[in-house]
Amino acid sequence: MVNINKMHWSAAHWAEEIERRLSETDRQAPIVNTDSQDTRDFDAIFIGGGAAGRFGAAYLRAMGGRPLIIDQWPFLGGSCPHHACVPHHVFSDVAAQLLLERTFSGKLWFQDMNNKTISILEIIEMFRRGRTGPHAFMNYQSKEQLDLEFVLGCPATIVDAHTVTVDDRIYHANNIVLATGSRPKKSTVSNGNLKGVYDHVTLVDHLDYEPGSTAVVIGSGKTAIEYACFFNATGRRTIIVSRNPPLANIPDGDTRLYLMTRMMEQGMEFLEASELLAIDGDPEDRVKSVRILTPSGEISIATDFVFTALGQRPNSELAAHALGVKVDAKGFVEIDSRMHTSIPHVYAVGDVVGRPMEMFKARKGGMYAARNIMGEEAHYHIGDYPDFMHTHYEVCWLGLGEEEARKHYHNVVVLKLPPDNPDGENVALPAGDRMMLYAMMKPKLSGFQKLVIDGSSRRIIGAFHVGSGAKDGFQYLAPMVRRGLTVDELGEMDELFLNPSYFIQLCRLRAGSKNLRGM
Ligand SMILES: Cc1cc2nc3c(=O)[nH]c(=O)nc-3n(C[C@H](O)[C@H](O)[C@H](O)COP(=O)(O)OP(=O)(O)OC[C@H]3O[C@@H](n4cnc5c(N)ncnc54)[C@H](O)[C@@H]3O)c2cc1C
Ligand SMILES: NC(=O)c1ccc[n+]([C@@H]2O[C@H](COP(=O)([O-])OP(=O)(O)OC[C@H]3O[C@@H](n4cnc5c(N)ncnc54)[C@H](OP(=O)(O)O)[C@@H]3O)[C@@H](O)[C@H]2O)c1
Repeated sequence: MVNINKMHWSAAHWAEEIERRLSETDRQAPIVNTDSQDTRDFDAIFIGGGAAGRFGAAYLRAMGGRPLIIDQWPFLGGSCPHHACVPHHVFSDVAAQLLLERTFSGKLWFQDMNNKTISILEIIEMFRRGRTGPHAFMNYQSKEQLDLEFVLGCPATIVDAHTVTVDDRIYHANNIVLATGSRPKKSTVSNGNLKGVYDHVTLVDHLDYEPGSTAVVIGSGKTAIEYACFFNATGRRTIIVSRNPPLANIPDGDTRLYLMTRMMEQGMEFLEASELLAIDGDPEDRVKSVRILTPSGEISIATDFVFTALGQRPNSELAAHALGVKVDAKGFVEIDSRMHTSIPHVYAVGDVVGRPMEMFKARKGGMYAARNIMGEEAHYHIGDYPDFMHTHYEVCWLGLGEEEARKHYHNVVVLKLPPDNPDGENVALPAGDRMMLYAMMKPKLSGFQKLVIDGSSRRIIGAFHVGSGAKDGFQYLAPMVRRGLTVDELGEMDELFLNPSYFIQLCRLRAGSKNLRGM
């Protein structure tokens, strides 16, 4: 076991090392980076160096403490760059780009896309080659810029609330932070392990053939819809099988309608109130069809490509068995607002503690664990947060949708684009970066946006945006809305016109009136 603490590898060197380790199947000696000259005890061992563990450790280090991260992978950063957010954003970029190419096929400088199917395998292989870059950068940054100590490339085993072993080494710390993340829920339908059945992890790790003309997607959460839009955009028949209506996570009816209409125009098929009954294979153990129970009876769909997106299970078994930390009925570790588990000196952060399973919560959870470990009394109440997902578009939202707002407020005012009018679909608004070609040539594809206001207090209570590039705005809008942002304050801001969100302009058009009216 070599300690690399006194070595200073470049990001390129890290990339080579990570690449080599990921491609070799033999067991490798862990990469150890501990500082033998630092004689202090570790304040905390973070088991898992993903978003939660790495950010938690970095914060603890920044506060003057001594963290150690242990991760079974040869890189820091966890599942986001390896299996989750980063590939999802690659595929969603591809879907958005292909929507543009197909819409303008044969026009302007666009190539003819008629009957053209794009290779999924090539895109996955491109991602597999590219993901080492973020991994290498995070190892480099963690060691050279954040002064983090870590042991990579080997799983940790918990002995007690202060002791962890890796390979044949024993590490002690004053506290342990469980940051072990989650993994995809597997289908219980028989034949779920035939070749051709994937989830978001196995797709990017194992796909080695070109999927045929039909993709069947099971589930209707963010993962299912995002990957389905990608498969659809490549030119494949794409069928989504779900028990409940898709997009139920987006709390506004108009926004859901806009998105469903656009997806169906692209040819996506939705089998709602339906369940996967069986996956049938050929003699070579490859998927050849699926059987689905729909409200009108059982149907069979010929396909060699099934994608399951059934949600995430926590990686909590290690801590539950070794320490007896309390977990809920689904196995998520129970914590209080200071990230304490039921066992003294043991904290838990990130996906392993449950929803929302998003990067902001993982990173902030790590930060709050660090603050508490370093002696502060820091409470993390998640509360309202801005949210997003992709279809062929980027979709952002915060606060209440119109329907829910009307249940709680008697004077709800809605500002939206395009406006409700007989020509609504032909109005080239909203428009903004990346939507301008649609605005000029296919107005109904240029997006949708809506602001929900309590007309009595004039406060913003909900915002929705379908288009491109509004995520940035929403992450700053959310805390302002929480603090009581009014239509007048929003109308007072300085817009960088044309921008993806028109809320400032819409508010300015109406703010002069004592009695707000919608539009
Ligand atoms: C398809 C998909 C797309 C997503 N896209 C987005 C997005 O765009 N934006 C967003 O905000 N969120 C997104 N998410 C959610 C986001 O990926 C997670 O919330 C986040 O990565 C969780 O971070 P974590 O640190 O809790 O877990 P992870 O990043 O999974 O880290 C856990 C780490 O623990 C390590 N580990 C586990 N057991 C052991 C052990 N015994 N010993 C040592 N190491 C161990 C693992 O190797 C891993 O590195 C997406 C999720 C999915 C499934
Ligand atoms: N920010 C992002 O863009 C992003 C992207 C992807 C994922 N994520 C996060 O990652 C986490 C996981 O997301 P996810 O979409 O994979 O999971 P999810 O939100 O839990 O959705 C799981 C889907 O699978 C269905 N399902 C579960 N078990 C099933 C079964 N046995 N048979 C048929 N259908 C079944 C569910 O249906 P029911 O509704 O009927 O239960 C639901 O549609 C979430 O917290 C999500 O927020 C974030």
